[in-house]
Amino acid sequence: MSISILAIESSCDETSAAVCRDGIILSNIIASQKVHEQYGGVVPELASRAHMQNIVPVVDKAMRDAGCSMQHLNAIAFTQAPGLIGALLVGAQFAKSLSLALNIPLIAVHHMQAHVLANLIPTTTNGQPDPKPSFPFLCLTVSGGHTQIVLCESPLNMTVIGETMDDAAGEAFDKSAKILGLPYPGGPLIDKYAQQGNPDRFRFPEPQIPGLNFSFSGLKTAILYFLQENTAADPQFVAKNLPDICASIQQRIITILLNKLKKAAIQTGVKDICIAGGVSANSGLRQTLEQWGQRFRWNTFIPAFQYCTDNAAMIAITGYYKYQAGSFSDLGVSPTARAEWK
Ligand code: KG4
Ligand code: ZN
Repeated sequence: MSISILAIESSCDETSAAVCRDGIILSNIIASQKVHEQYGGVVPELASRAHMQNIVPVVDKAMRDAGCSMQHLNAIAFTQAPGLIGALLVGAQFAKSLSLALNIPLIAVHHMQAHVLANLIPTTTNGQPDPKPSFPFLCLTVSGGHTQIVLCESPLNMTVIGETMDDAAGEAFDKSAKILGLPYPGGPLIDKYAQQGNPDRFRFPEPQIPGLNFSFSGLKTAILYFLQENTAADPQFVAKNLPDICASIQQRIITILLNKLKKAAIQTGVKDICIAGGVSANSGLRQTLEQWGQRFRWNTFIPAFQYCTDNAAMIAITGYYKYQAGSFSDLGVSPTARAEWK
């Protein structure tokens, strides 16, 4: 019997629904909320309202694109945590209602676990299946709210072996962009300008944090002082040097991330290395990971672009593994803003 799962993601400012059949993604619809741009960050209450407006059309389109009817679904998966509580509630209530109405199991998914498993979503290039990581693998998960190195021993057996002690990597991108006067979310814009810039032009500090943990708050302060000093001398400094500033900031964030990943690879002896999360869409990180992979003989894996930032396909694939393991939730399950790894 084939297994069809409808998955819903609503943890932050993307309303997304996906359908997977036997682990193959048939549709993945993402509605990005533009309403937050004018505020320079995600406004939780506006996110909840936009999810409520988007969820029915997004689910409807995901079902139609997949050519799937409600009667053929075997389970509903949804993001339980972590995220904005009001935003999570919309997806959770929708998923619970559908599971009750259709009398099919409900599967609660951890958003960060799903980012890691985005690496296992089957994809093809020119009709040929792409290689996927073998267990155990390491995953550097870099998003707007998290920065983690995860040792993944099986789809549902993962351990966080390093994480940020303050800002996340995505926040480091977004806050740097804000200091430069760029709109939210600044990560993709820094990436865009960096492509025309010289990454060696300006040098920002690399924090000396023991073990596999990260810190990005010092970098943010260093960038702020650097800009204050230089714009005092020349008010046009940012406008004249934007590509070089962006390339130098991006390079520093990338080396902070990859130096820790390299340390984790040496400590664990693991050679299959993945990245995941919104920041894994960064072109510089993707290129540098591949270069380091060749240099250190790692097998490197990067999710397809559409599976890097928040999406329901990653919730669907995680739901599929949980379905196979019989890991279901009852209707009493509540979303939580923060959630520890099990
Ligand atoms: O995983 P995600 O979509 O949402 C969270 O779970 O947080 O990650 C969003 C983060 C934002 O900080 C955004 O600026 C960053 O990913 N991001 C990027 C790029 N695309 C998205 N950062 C750098 N370069 C990019 N191309
Ligand atoms: Zn995310």
